[in-house]
Amino acid sequence: MDEQAKKTALRGITYGLYVIGTKVGDDVNAFTGNWVTQTSFTPPLVAIGVKKGTASCDGIRESGVFSVNVLETGQKDLAFQFFKPVSRVGNKFGDVEFYTATTGSPILKDALSWFECRVTDTVDRGDHVLFVGEVVDAGVHRTGDPLTLRELGLFYGG
Ligand SMILES: Cc1cc2nc3c(=O)[nH]c(=O)nc-3n(C[C@H](O)[C@H](O)[C@H](O)COP(=O)(O)O)c2cc1C
Repeated sequence: MDEQAKKTALRGITYGLYVIGTKVGDDVNAFTGNWVTQTSFTPPLVAIGVKKGTASCDGIRESGVFSVNVLETGQKDLAFQFFKPVSRVGNKFGDVEFYTATTGSPILKDALSWFECRVTDTVDRGDHVLFVGEVVDAGVHRTGDPLTLRELGLFYGG
C-alpha cells in the first residue's frame, strides 16, 4: 500500500470535534476527540474511538458510560482545554461548568447539545478501543453551527 495515499485518503474523512466525558470512580474526566459517528437509528447507537492507555479509555471501560458534548463553531479554547492528558495537567475542567444527568458523565453547560451513552460493545483492536454506546439521554442548550476539526486546522487520522 502507498502509505502517503492511505494518509491523504483517510484525512479526507470529515469530522466534528467533541468533548467526550466519562465517569472515573466518583469523579469525572473528559477529552476532546473527533472519532465519533452514529451507527444505528433503532436503537440509537454511536461509536467512538478512544486511545488506549488514556485515563478516558480506562474510565469508559470501567464505568461503561460516556457523554458527547457538541461544541459550537468558535469554541476553540474549550476544545484545547481538553486535549491534554489528565495525567499531565490534572483536572482539566478548571472553571468550565458542567452537570450530570442519567449516567453521571459530565455535560458541559456551554456545549450546543449533548447525548450520553451506555456502552453495548467494545472492540479492542489496534491502538484505540472502539466503544459502541446506546444513547440513553440527550439535551439541547441552544441551536448553532457545530465546531469542525477542519476549523481548527488540525488532523487526527491518517
Ligand atoms: C485534533 C485532535 C483530535 C483528537 N481526537 C481523539 C479521538 O478521537 N480519540 C482519542 O482517543 N483521542 C483523541 N485525541 C487525543 C486526546 O485528546 C488525548 O489523548 C487526551 O489527552 C486524552 O485525555 P485523558 O488523558 O484525560 O484521557 C485527539 C487529539 C487531537 C489534538
